[in-house]
Amino acid sequence: MSRRPLIAANWKMHKTTPEVRSFVSAFWPKVSAGTERDMLICPPFPYISTVDEARRDTRIFLGAQNMYFEEKGAFTGEVAPGMLKDLKCEYVIIGHSERRGIFGETDESINTKVHAAVKYGLIPILCVGEKKEERQKNLTEQIILRQLEKNLKDLPDTAFTNLVIAYEPIWAIGTGLNAEAKDAHDAIALIREFIHSKFGENSAENTRILYGGSVKPDNMKLYMSQKGIDGALVGGASLDPDSFAKLVNY
Ligand code: PGA
Repeated sequence: MSRRPLIAANWKMHKTTPEVRSFVSAFWPKVSAGTERDMLICPPFPYISTVDEARRDTRIFLGAQNMYFEEKGAFTGEVAPGMLKDLKCEYVIIGHSERRGIFGETDESINTKVHAAVKYGLIPILCVGEKKEERQKNLTEQIILRQLEKNLKDLPDTAFTNLVIAYEPIWAIGTGLNAEAKDAHDAIALIREFIHSKFGENSAENTRILYGGSVKPDNMKLYMSQKGIDGALVGGASLDPDSFAKLVNY
């Protein structure tokens, strides 16, 4: 089976209303590869509707960068999965290393969020990846497997018809130090093997696995030529419409 490539923009805490609008109007006409590839924008929460309005008549998908797992209640500052659905989001990034590292998200809470996303019909993009010290100590495989074990715990096989995992080595995020294509390939093969062994062949075949960490127009092709890499999760290089269009048109 063939998985559609997904090129996802994680805008993090960037952009204002006029910047969001001008991005979409500049980006969309440049995307010539649009019919074969999925492209996704994950803006900060306040701009989800702005992207939704701007993307009408395009094939751009919409996602959030995080969410809480509860349906509603006294959770000041949090956003519920049903709210993201209401705002027309199709995807949600879960467990980004900045959420884990800066905001103290645990493997257990990430697991609850993945379950909640699936329950509400949002496609989770679960992020996993090792720190620099962990790679230096040859712990990369162990860390990835531990994260997968905990973050995907108790998911039904049916969840894998629409699930995305992003392998993002933390030392490569925002540093310009992108992973070697072979290392990205090997980590992604490990992730697919894990899914195969735990959730079956169909689940492994259906899951799109992305690489993320200093992806730029000049290294995108290298990643996309690796077997099993189904796309990219991009921070810095997704902020500029020219550069994001180059990534989609790789
Ligand atoms: P980067 O970020 O492309 O700026 O390295 C990737 C990410 O954090 O998802």
